[in-house]
Amino acid sequence: MTGVRTLLIALGLAAAAVTGVLAAGEGTAPSPAFRQWPGECVADAPFMRRNHMDLLKHQRDDTVHGGIRPANHSLNACVTCHAVKGDDGHPVTVADSRHFCRTCHDTTAVRVDCFSCHTSTPGVAK
Ligand code: HEC
Ligand code: HEC
Ligand code: HEC
Repeated sequence: MTGVRTLLIALGLAAAAVTGVLAAGEGTAPSPAFRQWPGECVADAPFMRRNHMDLLKHQRDDTVHGGIRPANHSLNACVTCHAVKGDDGHPVTVADSRHFCRTCHDTTAVRVDCFSCHTSTPGVAK
């Protein structure tokens, strides 16, 4: 079982890498299929694909330790602009595989615990 699972993950990563190259012309990370977000990202897409985790972590450290709370890299801003509507017309939570923050993480087997504290839908931070 372990061997099969490892193989499946390896295949998944290979497929994700190919998709990323085709979608972005840059082989760093896959790109979500849903791409209709309003407005502009806090940085360009290739930069964000590579560095969003660092942006978020630095921001978190600044906020929790330094009390600095600039709005532009806030997690709530990310999930608000990148919201994906579900069948009921409301933004899906991270429990739904269509959620923006899961589109790549699921294929690359990344797990983040952020949403045990932070809300994953648009609105005021939990
Ligand atoms: C006001 C809207 C808005 C906000 C706020 C925003 N983004 Fe974006 N984001 C976009 C758009 C539009 C794109 C696509 C840009 C492009 O294709 O050039 C994008 C692209 C991305 C991508 C790359 C997706 C891909 O194409 O593969 C990532 C990752 C990302 N954003 C993460 C974040 C994170 C993390 C935050 C919060 C720190 C955030 N975004 C905040 C609008 C936003
Ligand atoms: C144990 C609870 C907890 C977890 C887990 C957690 N955070 Fe936070 N986070 C907080 C608290 C508390 C604040 C401070 C909120 C404030 O001052 O507005 C914060 C602030 C932030 C901020 C800056 C303010 C904002 O709302 O955006 C960012 C960005 C952030 N966290 C990102 C993350 C990311 C990314 C993860 C997952 C890797 C994560 N957090 C996991 C509790 C948590
Ligand atoms: C374009 C694809 C993509 C999107 C969209 C995306 N991520 Fe990621 N994320 C990744 C990849 C790939 C990694 C693993 C990078 C590595 O291991 O170096 C990652 C890693 C992370 C990490 C670090 C995890 C760790 O264990 O260190 C955090 C935190 C994170 N992402 C948060 C988010 C949040 C929050 C969103 C939604 C706002 C999001 N990501 C959307 C591709 C994406």
